[in-house]
Amino acid sequence: MCDKHNGNCFEYVDSGMPRVALNCVVNREEIHTTVDPTMTLLQFLTTGLKLFGTKEGCGEGECGACTIIMNGKTVNSCIVLAVEAEGADILTVEGLGKDNEISILQQEFIAHDALQCGFCTPGMLMSARELLDRNPDPSDEEIKEALAGNFCRCTGYFPIIDAVKAAAKREREELK
Ligand code: FES
Ligand code: FES
Repeated sequence: MCDKHNGNCFEYVDSGMPRVALNCVVNREEIHTTVDPTMTLLQFLTTGLKLFGTKEGCGEGECGACTIIMNGKTVNSCIVLAVEAEGADILTVEGLGKDNEISILQQEFIAHDALQCGFCTPGMLMSARELLDRNPDPSDEEIKEALAGNFCRCTGYFPIIDAVKAAAKREREELK
């Protein structure tokens, strides 16, 4: 890790191979660019688009720190190539809130002290978002299942589950 990239240091080295066109939508904004074909989606989002909210933990698809939502499904962006996002609709933690306000889910994570160092939090939030989008009233078991791929080393999982439940309740109430 280095201290220049908000805890992320991907040491991305361009392969020198011919660049490939990439057209996608990230956090509701159209992106039209070219990328190194060896660049991961995580590297593209962070070093490319300067969206440093998404974290790199293991870099091997195991810890969930790099979770984003692509075409409505969570993916570990460290094991997806940027070129695989051609035509995709991507949501990162930076896109959860709107109009300069953090989302209900983020508010409930804060209210329930569901983070300490916060390194796992962006990935947790994205997995929780995907869950609530397909299941607005999840049980504890369903929340645990949705977050099973996201590891937290410091907070413990109970406050996170409570935060997701509280956010689900508030979101349902807002829809009434
Ligand atoms: S950094 Fe991608 S799963 Fe761990
Ligand atoms: S809050 Fe530190 S790893 Fe989860």
